[in-house]
Amino acid sequence: MSKEYGKRKVVIVGDGRVGSSAVFALFQQAWCNEVGVIDVVLPGHKDENGEWVKGFNAMHNVEGDALDMEDGASFLDGKCHVVPAKWTDEPGKEGVDYSICDDADAVVITSGAPQKPGQTRLQLLAGNAGIVAGICKQLKPHLNDHCVVIVVSNPCDVLARVAYDVLGIEAGRVIGSGCVLDSSRLKQEISDDLGVSYGSVDATIIGEHGDSEVAAFSVASVGTTPIREYYEKFKGLKGAELDEHLEKIHYNVWHSAYDVINLKRATNYAIALSITRICKAIINDEKVILPVSVQCDSKVLGGKAEGVYLSLPAILGAHGVEAIVAPEYDAHDTEAVLKSAATLQESFNSLNGQY
Ligand SMILES: NC(=O)c1ccc[n+]([C@@H]2O[C@H](COP(=O)([O-])OP(=O)(O)OC[C@H]3O[C@@H](n4cnc5c(N)ncnc54)[C@H](O)[C@@H]3O)[C@@H](O)[C@H]2O)c1
Repeated sequence: MSKEYGKRKVVIVGDGRVGSSAVFALFQQAWCNEVGVIDVVLPGHKDENGEWVKGFNAMHNVEGDALDMEDGASFLDGKCHVVPAKWTDEPGKEGVDYSICDDADAVVITSGAPQKPGQTRLQLLAGNAGIVAGICKQLKPHLNDHCVVIVVSNPCDVLARVAYDVLGIEAGRVIGSGCVLDSSRLKQEISDDLGVSYGSVDATIIGEHGDSEVAAFSVASVGTTPIREYYEKFKGLKGAELDEHLEKIHYNVWHSAYDVINLKRATNYAIALSITRICKAIINDEKVILPVSVQCDSKVLGGKAEGVYLSLPAILGAHGVEAIVAPEYDAHDTEAVLKSAATLQESFNSLNGQY
């Protein structure tokens, strides 16, 4: 297997709404040279005359997407190629060749069912665990020694843990996209509310990428001012009134995915940008701190969430997560994130190792 390093290549597994949007976002980045794409080959069937009839094949979609995007390559700042994986639909041998991952710097898994209106992310676990585990089994022989695997399929925290379990590589090289997207939503809410730029807001969602997520206001700041002090000083809000205001902000963040899904049955663009942000950190070895979903060790959260995958601020570079750098949260945020960890542990346990 090739150990070529630094090819600036990402492979997206799953060319649905999230995957294809991520491919298109990555294709436009000057720092990315190649985006490989994998989907599933669906078997055909024999008709009444015993003739083989090809069914709809998601790899045709991948090839169409690649051609479509490459037609616009002359408008790019850089030079990126979208490359479909090799595949066959030969009866009995249907499948995709995962060797496209041999020289990838990052592989992003976006395959699986999305939420239906009103459905929680955790409710997707039973169906998506088998899909993600199956992909990881095919990926494993093609993983080089630096590639980072990013699980986006929901519930991404529990599925990142499943991927880690199947792949058996260092925990720092298997992450979930976690609360990178939710934290972007939080920054946007606060920035709009206070009339300051996104870049001046340092605020993070931690815990589950899902209903038990926690807005860590105890360590949030605007400029260099702690967020509660900022609201009191410049907005005249304090005490119970401020608590209620911050709760409303968090509610909007938490509910945003449900709002989008109710309107268009999917979320795809903001997650595609979040995937792009995470891949950029890996490909450029940025060592930026992002709230990706990571495996908690004995030093994190007093060891009370050891083994659980959830979002905490972590240093992200070419080899994945280098360190979890969670600050001291107050009692309220700590209790909430431990509750979130317990929910995720329970959800993982419900699989009983069946994937
Ligand atoms: N983590 C996040 O922040 C976030 C945000 C949005 C969506 N999601 C999740 O991403 C996933 C995909 O959502 P979507 O809207 O793109 O769904 P979609 O149905 O549009 O696409 C799913 C794709 O996965 C493919 N697929 C299924 N099984 C496969 C396999 N074994 N190998 C390769 N490909 C396979 C399907 O053919 C399809 O193209 C969902 O689980 C959704 O909940 C996560």
